[in-house]
Amino acid sequence: MEQKKLVAQAIVDATGGQLSLDEVMSKIEVPKSYELGDYAFPAFILSKVYRKAPQQIAPELVEKIDQDGFDKVEAVGPYVNFFLDKKSFSKNVLAAILQKKEGYGQQDLGHAGNVPIDMSSPNIAKPMSMGHLRSTVIGNSLAELLKKANYNPIKINHLGDWGTQFGKLIEAYKLWGSEEEVRKDPINTLLKYYVHFHEVDEKQPELDDEARAWFKKLEDGDEEATNLWQWFRDESLKFFKSIYQKLGIDFDSYNGESFYNDKMDEVVNLLEQKNLLQESRGAEIVDLEKYGLNPALIKKTDGTTLYITRDLAAALYRYRTYNFVQSLYVVGNEQTNHFKQLKAVLKEMGYEWADDIHHIPFGLITSGGKKLSTRKGNIILLEDVLNDAVDLAKKQIAEKNPDLPNKDQVAEDVGVGAVIFHDLKNERLNNFDFNLEEVVRFEGETGPYVQYSHARAMSILRKAGNVDLENAQLAGLNDEESWEVIRQLSNFPAMVRRAVEEYEPSVIAKYSIHLSKSFNKYYAHTKVLTDDDQKDSRLAMVASVAIVLKESLRLLGVNAPNEM
Ligand code: ARG
Repeated sequence: MEQKKLVAQAIVDATGGQLSLDEVMSKIEVPKSYELGDYAFPAFILSKVYRKAPQQIAPELVEKIDQDGFDKVEAVGPYVNFFLDKKSFSKNVLAAILQKKEGYGQQDLGHAGNVPIDMSSPNIAKPMSMGHLRSTVIGNSLAELLKKANYNPIKINHLGDWGTQFGKLIEAYKLWGSEEEVRKDPINTLLKYYVHFHEVDEKQPELDDEARAWFKKLEDGDEEATNLWQWFRDESLKFFKSIYQKLGIDFDSYNGESFYNDKMDEVVNLLEQKNLLQESRGAEIVDLEKYGLNPALIKKTDGTTLYITRDLAAALYRYRTYNFVQSLYVVGNEQTNHFKQLKAVLKEMGYEWADDIHHIPFGLITSGGKKLSTRKGNIILLEDVLNDAVDLAKKQIAEKNPDLPNKDQVAEDVGVGAVIFHDLKNERLNNFDFNLEEVVRFEGETGPYVQYSHARAMSILRKAGNVDLENAQLAGLNDEESWEVIRQLSNFPAMVRRAVEEYEPSVIAKYSIHLSKSFNKYYAHTKVLTDDDQKDSRLAMVASVAIVLKESLRLLGVNAPNEM
């Protein structure tokens, strides 16, 4: 960053202040190939000022530029290409990383503003799906990224613990349930009742009325309904928490849909006061035609509320509680319309802050190219995936490094980390197919590969013994092999920024793969520990790689063992 400013300043000076520093900064490019230099300035933007072709301007600028701090400055066509002074550039980058350590890349984009993140949000009495996994790990990574950019994220698990389906579940339990069976295996048993309910009610639609009546009772605070519901919720939550623990992810709030039960009257009243509610076949709706959206169904004929009613109450609650600068919802792209409706209704209610609500959608995980579906039995269970991944990691460690201390912990870090990393390296919106073997591979673009690169850097540092790099006078590095690594390292703060601005953890995951690749290539060509005047600089680079890889993985929610 500093270096880019150096380039920009040189241009500003050469043009005698015709352009502002910010203007030039925003125009400077990084050439695709580094044979064309480290930065390039396109002279197009000056052709109006000078009334000349950019091809003519570029060489004239080169004449005027003070070459201090650069290896070379040259004109190629309409571009002015800058080659940085590698030694001083690398010295600056490495010194900054060694001094800031894991704080490297920190920046103030958020001014400590609150950002609630609605994430994970599985449904009570159902298994957690791969979709919920995506929401959990994307949400968690966004929280870490936002924190690094000085926002204050608040991780909210908006549990699906309210709605007509609980009427169905209670009815099913009353008809066929056994307490003992539920205690033994809560989630699967409850799911079984729920699925059975759907089979039976196709022939006996009156069951639906019973179910609706139970949900109505639940909303009205009936004791039996409430106790059963509470029991189902407790059991489910116990189970969900065991998965979160495996993933190493926690939440600031478990306020799910039920939390808003006593806050929905206000929403309905507000909508009424603002004349937004219309009756449609006995139900209450908000018309959203002018947004090109279907009407939002706020209240059913029997007076019970809906998913969106609870989301309206939640949005209002979050605004009042957190006075947020942004409010994020990490939820699959199949709910895009729901969030459009949510924002539109809030807009209609006159809340300007509706513009600060962002749905962060993501694509589907498929298996064998097919969509996963609980109903059709094509389902991958998250707890199985995590356990299998850890087992596979154990096997690989037993083959590659049988004497490794802490084997079990490392296998956890690698197995779980592999699953998280695999999810995050795909751009959020892409669908991807899940294949466990591929996820846990030590080579290729996987989490274990990045973890392994970090461990390799750590092992070089162990071999080097106690070198006080922080206080060493670094000579800097100017060889081609290290240059790629140095450039990557200097890019990290910009990558953090991009990941935050695009809500895209994959930026960091891909970055960590690139850095690992350049580092491994470097290592294959260079004897780091040779005694010469650049040894400290090489070690400083290895230490910097270790720091930045570990920090990248941390931002993704993945541990980086020191040995593996
Ligand atoms: N429980 C919902 C589901 O599993 C996701 C909830 C997302 N959050 C929200 N505020 N609507 O589909």
